Amino acid sequence: MEKRTIVAMPGDGIGKVVLDETIRVLDAAGFKADYVEGDIGWEFWCNEGNPLPERTLKLIEKHKVGLFGAITSKPKDAAFEELKPELQAKGLVYASPIVGLRQHFGLDICLRPCHTYKGNPLNFIRRGVGETIDEPEVDVAIFRQNTEGLYGGVEWSDPPADVYDALMTHPKFEKNFGHHPKSEISVSTRIFTKKHTERILRAAFEHAKKYGYKSVTLCEKPNVIRETSGMMFKMAKEIQKADYPNIELWNTNIDAQMMWLTKNPENYGVIVAGNMFGDIVSDGFAGLIGGLGFACSAQFNPDLGIGVFEPTHGSAPKYADYDVSIVNPIAMVESACMMLDFIEENDLAVKIRKAVSDVVSEGKVRTYDMMKMSGRADVVERGAASTKEMADAIIAKF
Ligand code: NAI
Ligand code: MG
Repeated sequence: MEKRTIVAMPGDGIGKVVLDETIRVLDAAGFKADYVEGDIGWEFWCNEGNPLPERTLKLIEKHKVGLFGAITSKPKDAAFEELKPELQAKGLVYASPIVGLRQHFGLDICLRPCHTYKGNPLNFIRRGVGETIDEPEVDVAIFRQNTEGLYGGVEWSDPPADVYDALMTHPKFEKNFGHHPKSEISVSTRIFTKKHTERILRAAFEHAKKYGYKSVTLCEKPNVIRETSGMMFKMAKEIQKADYPNIELWNTNIDAQMMWLTKNPENYGVIVAGNMFGDIVSDGFAGLIGGLGFACSAQFNPDLGIGVFEPTHGSAPKYADYDVSIVNPIAMVESACMMLDFIEENDLAVKIRKAVSDVVSEGKVRTYDMMKMSGRADVVERGAASTKEMADAIIAKF
């Protein structure tokens, strides 16, 4: 095995703990790598005025692969107040470094798989026929366009005059919004490009083909959001017809999908959506398989071979300073497995996933979330495993 260099970006709060524990798991599994630390997060915003320093971008550019814990983000005004006084005069505006990272490297493909772990007490159950209780087996792979749409950052409050004038040329804007003062209007745009829409659709179909899923579900709202969702649906039909005739294309609206996912989650395979709806539907499915302690993600740019792998949870500041960390490291460990897939260390990924699934199904070692406790410092005394104990249990399976 070629020795890799991985950019480790712990970030803030629990991101630091789960990343440390995950590196311990990777080492124990036999993954040969050097880890270089990439600065990212709140500390660098407060002290340098930039939560995503240039040196971190350089490291990722050089080494191509990053593991990312989590960052703390705060609204614009709160962020400004915490900035070092000497930086406050510089007119700096806080922007999320993870969104910045996605845009800088064009990490436009985001994959969030959600599959049921056998024996996980957090699995979704539903009432079946008569008195029966069903535990549907979820196995979905959600492809979220990661750089455009509502997260594209093209937005204004009290838009500049030329923007406002342009909007006023649209009859619906004029009719529905033209009578409100400009100063009372906020606009967030939803821009889709053909290029990136095609890339996410093709990534979804390719995944379905490679892993034998029978359907790809487009989860948007083309009947109402006609231009962006409409374009995506049209392109999905064309791509399916031309290149993936053996995979079914299903079309669901995001609102209906959120209802369907508790009625029949087992029916879905690959799901593909724009940025915002992909974010929503992936959290929805994550809730069925154990929630944030289990939800992993990959984001990558296949052309550049750059990938950054992170749990979907945030920095959970309220748990960050416990003497003994209580959070579940599985989401981060599973994200690292996605990294191993990306760099084609598939055997190692299989080995670690099996260890995780064995620990979960045995049920002897469970973090507080898996014991349905509310997160407090005393959960370990009450029988929950700490973050480290969960990592130890995974390692003990190798
Ligand atoms: P969060 O994901 O940090 O935490 C929400 C709750 O989920 C926690 O209080 C905890 O109960 C549970 N939780 C999260 N991770 C867990 C784990 N590994 N094991 C067990 N339980 C877990 O989201 P929140 O509280 O909304 O945001 C906190 C900060 O994180 C904010 O500053 C937010 O901006 C940031 N954030 C960063 C993200 C990222 O780095 N990609 C994503 C989401 C939020
Ligand atoms: Mg989210």
